Amino acid sequence: MNEQTSLRNLMVEEIKDLYDAERQLVKALPKMAKGANSDELRALITGHLSETEEQVKRLERAFEMLDEKPRGKHCAGIAGIIKEGSDLLEEDFDGAVMDAGIIAGAQRAEHYEIGAYGSVIAWAKQLGEGELASLLEDTMQEEKNADEKLSALAEGSINSKAAAAAGQRKSTASNGEDRSPRSVPKSRNGGRSKASTRRR
Ligand SMILES: [Fe+2]
Repeated sequence: MNEQTSLRNLMVEEIKDLYDAERQLVKALPKMAKGANSDELRALITGHLSETEEQVKRLERAFEMLDEKPRGKHCAGIAGIIKEGSDLLEEDFDGAVMDAGIIAGAQRAEHYEIGAYGSVIAWAKQLGEGELASLLEDTMQEEKNADEKLSALAEGSINSKAAAAAGQRKSTASNGEDRSPRSVPKSRNGGRSKASTRRR
């Protein structure tokens, strides 16, 4: 009984953390979109902004289900990721290189959220809160989809444009080695699974 109560409390604390994280992202995503040079990247970020606004509402429903007041608790993790992203925007990287950096920052945010939602969903199931778990699984799916779209955009076009930008010339001119961006390993986007493309 006590154990259940304390896991429930921990779950509520994590939901407060996520509530704050999503609201920080609602403010930060427009700045990332503004800094993007690729129309596709800007559209992707703007699309995820609308999803994020919906995710905030979903968390408000989660509080309701748990009979808790919707309150955030400062999420230092996402604040740090957002700070790194806004520091990057201050730097003077070329168009596609900047976009590659924006994607890296956005994926850090997605991975943070996927980790946090994953724990909360597992706890909700453990505590018999199936409805809450399935509500948050909708959000989890959106985060995974956003992460996959970011990978596809990076690996499909932005990384190769970034590699072709002026800053890379020196390394390719010095030897005949093929430095095609296609040789970049795909392993950096861990946690991706085929199942994540499934829609409810
Ligand atoms: Fe989110």
